[in-house]
Amino acid sequence: MKAVILVGGEGTRLRPLTCNIPKSMVPIINRPFLEHMINHLKSHGIDDITLALCHLPDQIQSYFGDGSDFGVKLTYVIEDYPMGTAGAVKNVEQHLDETFFVFNGDIFTDLDFSAMMRSHRQMGAKVTIALTPVEDPTIYGVVETDAGGRLLRFVEKPSRDEAPSNMINAGTYIVEPDVLSHIPPRCFFTFERELFPLLLNIGDPIYGYPSNAYWIDIGTTEKYQKLHHDLLTRRVSRGFPGQRAGEGIWVEGDCDIHPSAQLKGPTVIGGNCVIDSGVQVKGPSVIGQGCHIGKDSLIEGAIVWHNTRLGQGVALRNCIIAEGIFIGDRSRVAEGCILGNNVVIGCDQSLTQGTRVWPPENRR
Ligand code: GTP
Repeated sequence: MKAVILVGGEGTRLRPLTCNIPKSMVPIINRPFLEHMINHLKSHGIDDITLALCHLPDQIQSYFGDGSDFGVKLTYVIEDYPMGTAGAVKNVEQHLDETFFVFNGDIFTDLDFSAMMRSHRQMGAKVTIALTPVEDPTIYGVVETDAGGRLLRFVEKPSRDEAPSNMINAGTYIVEPDVLSHIPPRCFFTFERELFPLLLNIGDPIYGYPSNAYWIDIGTTEKYQKLHHDLLTRRVSRGFPGQRAGEGIWVEGDCDIHPSAQLKGPTVIGGNCVIDSGVQVKGPSVIGQGCHIGKDSLIEGAIVWHNTRLGQGVALRNCIIAEGIFIGDRSRVAEGCILGNNVVIGCDQSLTQGTRVWPPENRR
């Protein structure tokens, strides 16, 4: 089956993590987000995938190549300027000659795509929209359907009183190719605000596909952390890279872990890490590949990306430390801090709760 994944957005809400990498490449348990997504698609027979790129396309192309290492066929189309979610799909129209899926490239879900396709065909829908329940619908696109699931109304970011339901557009669609004729070429056009209202107006059958499957978009740092937490605590199940090396501990490839280091799960450690004496790692935590954790350091509930180096006696608590970072001896990084790629923190520094540090090359 065919799919388009939209991976052209700037991911502004996920900064500073996305200052210099696309949102779809941020690591989730030491693998790019998009790799998890492609694996899930492949498990449902979706193996002919077009990636609609715009912002920072090179990193995605050089990691995934033609897709053969990941068991899928990948085609890349780069927009000269952001075309919006539907405009981006129109832009890849030449690859879409059969019923196809569209995915926002920041959704992590367990949704049964095969069952969604069966429902789409049974209903004779032009578009089927996956729907997911949320506690607070006011920040999303909310959907009202009739008893048979046919879409009646689509309300973007309603107030609490106006919200017709708590079912929101989950950023996953099945689309018939002839629907694309309603999207003007080379224009900014979105599914939510332009295409769906237009289809409702002309009476095309749009159906909702409600599901309680696990669903999260990694649009914000809070949700990025929550996804890690849910994966590590097995609220949602995926295999971890590496071998089990103790209760709740996974270690990938060659690592040099001092016998006096104390590791408490759930924790995943990437390959080629050095963990010195007296280090304590408390889960749920992730340490990326090629990290060096200095003597007597503490990592508690933190997500550390690849190739980061901590000096001696450093303490990280519930924070996100991106790639290529250096933190000097005895420095402390408190809860909710986010450090972008290549940040350097000297010795004896204390970053207070919620501090965000931009990559050096992105500071004005
Ligand atoms: P924010 O700037 O934080 O809102 O993130 P975003 O730019 O990723 O926007 P949003 O979360 O609304 O986008 C949802 C999905 O659509 C993401 O996977 C984006 O990469 C993708 N997307 C958004 N706009 C475009 C676009 O103009 N072109 C393409 N190809 N993809 C887009």
